[in-house]
Amino acid sequence: MRSAPLASALALGALVPSSGAVPTAIVSRDSSNPFVGRKLSINHSYAASLEATFDSFIEEGDELNARKTRTVQGLGTFQWAPAISLLASLDAAISAARAEQNQGGVPQVVGLVLYNLPDRDCSAGESAGELSGEDGLRRYKNEYVDGWAERLSRASDLTFAVVVEPDAVGNMVTNQGVPLCAEAKPIYEEGIAYAISKLQLPNVNLYLDASHGGWLGWPDNLVLEAAQQFKDIVDRAGNNATIRGFSTNVSNYNPFKATVREDYTEWSPSWDEDHYTSSLAPYLEELDLPTRFIVDQSRVHLPGAREEWGEWCNVAPAGLGAPQKTDLENPYIDSLVWVKPPGESDGRCGLEGAPAAGQWFNEYVQMLVENAHEDVQPADSLERVTKSWWPQI
Ligand SMILES: *[C@@H]1O[C@H](CO)[C@@H](O)[C@H](O)[C@H]1NC(C)=O
Ligand SMILES: *[C@@H]1O[C@H](CO)[C@@H](O)[C@H](O)[C@H]1NC(C)=O
Ligand SMILES: *[C@@H]1O[C@H](CO)[C@@H](O)[C@H](O)[C@H]1NC(C)=O
Repeated sequence: MRSAPLASALALGALVPSSGAVPTAIVSRDSSNPFVGRKLSINHSYAASLEATFDSFIEEGDELNARKTRTVQGLGTFQWAPAISLLASLDAAISAARAEQNQGGVPQVVGLVLYNLPDRDCSAGESAGELSGEDGLRRYKNEYVDGWAERLSRASDLTFAVVVEPDAVGNMVTNQGVPLCAEAKPIYEEGIAYAISKLQLPNVNLYLDASHGGWLGWPDNLVLEAAQQFKDIVDRAGNNATIRGFSTNVSNYNPFKATVREDYTEWSPSWDEDHYTSSLAPYLEELDLPTRFIVDQSRVHLPGAREEWGEWCNVAPAGLGAPQKTDLENPYIDSLVWVKPPGESDGRCGLEGAPAAGQWFNEYVQMLVENAHEDVQPADSLERVTKSWWPQI
């Protein structure tokens, strides 16, 4: 976690371009927003995990939150394939989305997270992966990224939104004092550029991860450096490669629009993700990069839940944020989305009783449902909705 060099002469307003229009030249191959007119696909195993949450509310006689849980079971989340052996989960995501689109008649956007760089999570190590060094880079390209490209090119009937390598650029820009991060930087650059070049497909929208306002959002050289780093990577992909935009706040807890400006945001103009996207956009524009964002809102802390911006682990109290939403006042946002599936533990930290990273944390989900954003309205019925074409899980 970065501590803040503050005091910039730049006033917040000065950073926001006068026109919200996105120059057409910098928008990727498909200038239309992939989230408009399409529903983010459901992970049916995730929906099945929520049965435990539903049952707990019923046992407690809490019908309202049980009905909200029913609603959540019908919402889409991004799906993660963070290892070579998990590429098969892309096949499951694709076939479920295809059935929904063809048999349910609902156009789908399949949200996926590409996350397996060698020496991943070089600064914290909490999410270290299976690959390392030059040999890891070779496997990343040949076994991992090529596996993605093969599957997504075969699924030309579906639209994809792919978040590319959460936190990688954050580590490249701010953690070069960490030896592993310094070593990993050229590998990250080459790996991400390769992924971009292989996924230049008309049905694929790439969003490079821009971490979050608390990490890269200060108005000093950092925002500029981050933008330049993105530019270097995209240029390196070559052949006029394009991306759709950037993702922010993946697996974090920053509000899109904070109701209370927390003390720990000090003087940052990027004190919530709404402001962060607006801080970053002019720098991206300057470098002919697109200025489109998706923002992870799966879990949002309540005012006062954190003392430090760096707190990221099972933060409480928190609630589910707004699900997929495209009609926002911020002109840079393609959509609010749920990237981190709410309910999977961040690790044995934060709220008491937390299980290991990735494990289902039912008490935590109950809290998230209880504190959910108003857009998560209770379902009319306690019955679980099912469709004949849904996988039986
Ligand atoms: C789908 O959800 C299940 C249960 O939460 C989870 O274990 C699995 O990793 C998810 N699949 C993908 C591809 O994200
Ligand atoms: C890149 O785009 C320019 C301008 O449209 C074009 O002239 C050039 O041939 C393209 N290069 C490649 C490798 O596609
Ligand atoms: C970041 O995510 C957290 C939790 O998902 C949410 O509370 C917060 O609002 C998001 N921040 C932004 C700026 O979107």
